[in-house]
Amino acid sequence: MATYAEIHSRSRRDPEGFWGEIAQGIDWIRPFERVLDADAKPVARWFPGGLLNTCWNAIDRHVAAGHGQRLAVIYDSPVTGTIARFTYVEMQAKIAALAGALKEAGVAAGDRVIVYMPMVPEALVAMLACARLGAVHSVVFGGFAANELAVRIDDCTPKAILSASCGIEGAKIVPYKPLLDAAIAIAKHKPSACLILQRPQLACALVPGRDRDWAEAVAAAAPADCVPVLATDPLYILYTSGTTGAPKGVVRDNGGHAVALHYSMQAIYDMKPGEVFWAASDVGWVVGHSYICYAPLLAGCTTVLFEGKPVGTPDAGVYWRVIESHGVKTLFTAPTAFRAIRKEDPEGLLIAKHDLSGFRALFLAGERCDPATLDWATQKLQRPVVDHWWQTETGWPIAANCLGIPTGTGALFPIKPGSPTKPVPGWDVAVLDTDGHALAAGQIGAIVCRLPLPPGTFPTLWNAEQRFIDAYLAEYPGCYKTGDAGYIDEDGYLYVMTRVDDVINVAGHRLSTGQMEEVLASHADVAECAVIGVADELKGQVPLGFVVLKSGVNKPDATITAEIVALVRDKIGPVAAFKQAVVVKRLPKTRSGKILRGTMQKIADAQSYKPPATIDDPAILDEIRASLKDAGYAKEA
Ligand code: COA
Ligand code: AMP
Repeated sequence: MATYAEIHSRSRRDPEGFWGEIAQGIDWIRPFERVLDADAKPVARWFPGGLLNTCWNAIDRHVAAGHGQRLAVIYDSPVTGTIARFTYVEMQAKIAALAGALKEAGVAAGDRVIVYMPMVPEALVAMLACARLGAVHSVVFGGFAANELAVRIDDCTPKAILSASCGIEGAKIVPYKPLLDAAIAIAKHKPSACLILQRPQLACALVPGRDRDWAEAVAAAAPADCVPVLATDPLYILYTSGTTGAPKGVVRDNGGHAVALHYSMQAIYDMKPGEVFWAASDVGWVVGHSYICYAPLLAGCTTVLFEGKPVGTPDAGVYWRVIESHGVKTLFTAPTAFRAIRKEDPEGLLIAKHDLSGFRALFLAGERCDPATLDWATQKLQRPVVDHWWQTETGWPIAANCLGIPTGTGALFPIKPGSPTKPVPGWDVAVLDTDGHALAAGQIGAIVCRLPLPPGTFPTLWNAEQRFIDAYLAEYPGCYKTGDAGYIDEDGYLYVMTRVDDVINVAGHRLSTGQMEEVLASHADVAECAVIGVADELKGQVPLGFVVLKSGVNKPDATITAEIVALVRDKIGPVAAFKQAVVVKRLPKTRSGKILRGTMQKIADAQSYKPPATIDDPAILDEIRASLKDAGYAKEA
């Protein structure tokens, strides 16, 4: 069997041969004309001319092959006390019925549908029903506020919205319908239909003429068949944070996505059809799209949909209970979840209470995995713990220790804490200096991926092709700029250390400080502001706001900070986890007026720093330190 080095080298030397063979793992209604259209603009496109249906590949083909009775989805919801199991044939019926209801609501191939749903099986049914019709879904994470939902409604102009009466966050019921109604009221674009799933925990009122009860609509609809779409047609749009308030609509196509995700299940996770895969994330994030919904089903595996938290639902042993009860072979989650578990159960006593004999490996992503968390998980689980790195834009991992590819010397490369190991086949990763020259081993620079990117990666941003070019392609010609910085060591291991932009990572969630600054700046009393990400033991980073007040404002600082905390929650949502702000007299800046966010972050984190030579007034740094101390945020140096 070929080794990693041979496979990786072939994937870059002969991408058409490599991906052309791998694409045979997918059912094509009409074969693609070419594997790669390298001349397409602004980026190369995979499998042009090919016709397929992603839902067929994820569901129907397994039924057609005689595996209809295999479990497709296990719904485990400690917050509602429910465990439900759905076979492939049951999922097929549910998806076809919902697709029928959407069709009756006027949804056709190419139309957009927003999915604003909690972690219930119907969320997967919703995504796959859209895929069945060739409609383009855009799932919006439940922790976003109405305003953010409205921004997405206006950007992707959905014909229909699929939602539910409520979500359940630990012990809290979160009413979704008032948020949906408020978002539609704010948005300029109005969807013509909403299907609302009434959950038993909380019923909601329906708007006559626009809203329909999900169950009634599905019961009345004729099931719909899979609609063939082009490989290059969009499957979904997923909005992610950029440097400004306007989120970026990452577009995923149908063909490349199906091919790459199907491949990743074998090559990266070493999963076989019928085995149980659990990605403990949320359908609102890319991990949820790729590894709760599409990839496990494309590979004929069973996926676990978990509606709960790593701790508190009911305790830090719930992950081990789920692994044991459902025979999970591979778990994928964010390091923050493990930090939460370790805090509650430092000795791992709850792990020992469960039979984890079928559990093979833990994969971590979403944020840098700190070596302490990696060590703890490895020690307590006695299984491979694999850090792997990817982004909403890429849709699947760029770098990993691929469990399904022989290294030549063993099942895995030796694990180096802090590194997601090596580029996955298909990916050509380089670290460049500001002039675009490759840096020597060990030197930190911008991490880029040489073009063409492999299948499954984003071909554009929805409605924003120029932004796509400017943000990702312009700075390093011939490369995709990841927005991350790091280095490659002498053994070819990659280290992803930090973002180069204003994006911060809070509990594995990607957030824009620029977006939060826009909200702070909209407060009537705020003259100037800055938001930085400061280190947090549990969430990795949390945002911290600094505001300078307009002259003449004489409200107490505590009133101002409480107001801006509430404003961010109202405008962006609880997911921003914006809970701390400090009123300061002035912000430190360079002589050209650039706010020194990096220096402020070092002060807040009690790290050593050297003020830049271009600083306008170094005394402001002492003021910042004093204000942080007065507000109770000072850390020990
Ligand atoms: N709908 C509505 N509100 C939501 C939500 C959703 N789907 N998801 C999160 N929120 C809310 C939370 O309730 C919380 O609200 P609060 O301020 O009223 O307490 C807020 O958004 C922040 O959420 P979060 O940052 O997730 O914090 P938490 O304290 O609820 O949980 C962890 C912390 C670490 C347990 C949790 O983030 C976690 O399990 N993370 C790991 C898995 C993961 O989600 N990874 C994502 C990418 S792989
Ligand atoms: P998202 O698009 O929300 O998946 O966030 C992607 C960003 O999260 C990346 O650009 C990184 O900054 C960070 N990230 C994800 N996985 C890792 C990892 N394994 N190591 C370091 N950073 C990571």
